[in-house]
Amino acid sequence: MSTDTTDDDSRLARLSTRDDPYVEQDEAAELPLLLHSMGVLRELFGDLVAAVRPTTVVEIGGEGGLLTRELLAHAEALDARVLCVDSAPSAALVELADTTRLELVRAFSPAAIDELPERAEFVVVDGDHNYAVVVEETRRLLARADAAGFPPFVAFHDVCFPWARRDLYYDPSAVDPAGVHAHRFDTGVSVFSHDPIPGGGMRSRGNYAIADHAGGERNGVRTAIEDAIADRDDLVLRIVPAVFGLGFLYPKDAPWAPAVDALLQPLDRSPLLARLERNRLALYMKLLELQDHGHALARAYDEDRARFEARYAEVSGENLRLREELAALKDAGRSGASPVPTAGGPA
Ligand SMILES: C[S@@+](CC[C@H](N)C(=O)[O-])C[C@H]1O[C@@H](n2cnc3c(N)ncnc32)[C@H](O)[C@@H]1O
Repeated sequence: MSTDTTDDDSRLARLSTRDDPYVEQDEAAELPLLLHSMGVLRELFGDLVAAVRPTTVVEIGGEGGLLTRELLAHAEALDARVLCVDSAPSAALVELADTTRLELVRAFSPAAIDELPERAEFVVVDGDHNYAVVVEETRRLLARADAAGFPPFVAFHDVCFPWARRDLYYDPSAVDPAGVHAHRFDTGVSVFSHDPIPGGGMRSRGNYAIADHAGGERNGVRTAIEDAIADRDDLVLRIVPAVFGLGFLYPKDAPWAPAVDALLQPLDRSPLLARLERNRLALYMKLLELQDHGHALARAYDEDRARFEARYAEVSGENLRLREELAALKDAGRSGASPVPTAGGPA
């Protein structure tokens, strides 16, 4: 076996060789520094699309279009339609819809699900990450599949930390108030703290709100999926504990289930993936902590400097005043006039 050639199977990760020892570095340097996009799972989604062979692929929540691009490429081979539902599409997503056959649906899920093509066979759910929205999305997607008589394949993002058991709201006012937990826009989550940290941790800077408490009933994405399928023992839910967690839901007896099982079973609740993910999160949160500490030090330095400059100006003014007073005293001494005492000065 040669150890110094690049394996020509493009489905395998490229590794460094003796002649090209920089493969890992070069690929790492090119990856976007984005912690949460499922775009990094391109091969897995490609294999899943190829196994399920849908006529329609739907992504709910497209953001910058990173996963959307991958889905478009994979659906191309099947000539499948690709739709993306996003309530606030980014400029990149709008451009993707303008320049490819992507069909952009500018609307809120779950309501938008009722407007989708009847056979939305392969759906990625990655819009709002809270119980109220996800439980309704899951129920509607399953009900539509049952009514139309096809086996649904639904992929969910954010089924592990931090949104598995804690709600996130992009727009709390768009959710039934009865389903909204106490939340704040100015906190962040961290693996180093059970409670959200005001102004710290992984935070949205105002883009979304985070529930104050984790766990309990009706809280979080995985809790929503579990509740929506509680009476469905015909379905299997596989959890791949990477990139904030992926959940894959499908009927055990779908014609393509054996092919999908072969892809997902080895990853389902993999301790190796879970540990890598936790390590990745811990490193990122540590980086945020250090960054926040650096900013706090810089702020303290700026405040100290401003205080010092104000004091310096004050002392310089006083110094000048004393010099002038001294000069006046000397002048008075030279002319024989008695010096004029100043307030607080020597009598
Ligand atoms: C986490 S991002 C999606 C990331 C993307 N799927 C990826 O992997 O690169 C969530 C997106 O969902 C959209 N969104 C939030 N709430 C929504 C809702 N109720 N309906 C539709 N889209 C929603 C947001 O505008 C945002 O673009």
